[in-house]
Amino acid sequence: MKNILVIGATGQIGSELTMKLRSIYGNDHVVAGYIHGAEPKGELLESGPAEVCDVTDRPAIDAVVKKYNIDTIYNLAALLSVVAENKPILAWKIGIDGLWNILEIARENHCAVFTPSSIGSFGPETPRDKTPQDTVQRPRTIYGVSKVTTELLSDWYYNKYGVDTRSVRFPGLISNVTPPGGGTTDYAVDIYYAAVKGQEFICPIAEGTYMDMMYMPDALNACVQLMEADPTRLAHRNGFNIASMSFEPGEIFRAIQKYKPDFKMHYQVDALKQSIASSWPNSLDDTAARYEWDWQPTYDLDSMTVDMLEKLAARL
Ligand code: SER
Repeated sequence: MKNILVIGATGQIGSELTMKLRSIYGNDHVVAGYIHGAEPKGELLESGPAEVCDVTDRPAIDAVVKKYNIDTIYNLAALLSVVAENKPILAWKIGIDGLWNILEIARENHCAVFTPSSIGSFGPETPRDKTPQDTVQRPRTIYGVSKVTTELLSDWYYNKYGVDTRSVRFPGLISNVTPPGGGTTDYAVDIYYAAVKGQEFICPIAEGTYMDMMYMPDALNACVQLMEADPTRLAHRNGFNIASMSFEPGEIFRAIQKYKPDFKMHYQVDALKQSIASSWPNSLDDTAARYEWDWQPTYDLDSMTVDMLEKLAARL
């Protein structure tokens, strides 16, 4: 039986991943790690153990790992791209100093570690369409620099010490549960909230800017499936390209308009977000993930739109 610690359990990915892991491995076997100011609430709090786990506090996390006999850590603590660009030192402290802590704890306590990478690990010199698994990674954002470092450091711990590190390069993640905060791809979540509230959407990303995106259920499956994958099949480790859909703002707008004919949008491009978006790929080639651990997404833009509108309408 696995004993899992999710660091960042109240964040965009963590809040849903923790519940999914509890449904698979049992409530008592999945610890929700959180920081002060982001305490778990409701089902997340009531369904299983929760502990303060600040990624910058190695002794505290080490104690939690020993207390629960943890063998797998999902290390989800990070600042998203736009916030990171404005708080680079904090982004590094959480993303990289924090990662060192987790990897050292994993080495000493024999844990497997999942730390997400991102489409942000690529830059303007990367081939833009169907970006290959192994290619140029020269990002221009501090977020991207920390993600490339994450990939390299995680691979180094695997090669040097045999720590079972694995990761995926997430595209923009779209969910109806916990909103993202301060990412470049957030517009693709915000647009659904505007549509359901009957508001006009002001789009911060320019027409024609393609980015890879994914619906949260597929992203959660990727996390679990990769950590369960047969290690003898993994030629890559950190991190795998995964993909399910790529669109530009006009396309997601029209996908929503199909179900909300009165929905309106206009563009008011945000210079920072746009410069980041323009430096990222249009779409990723995920052949390696499909081949090495049978990755396969289930949602496309239309099926995601139907589900997002339905779930948000029920909640708002
Ligand atoms: N969603 C992230 C961001 O926009 C990219 O991985 O920052």
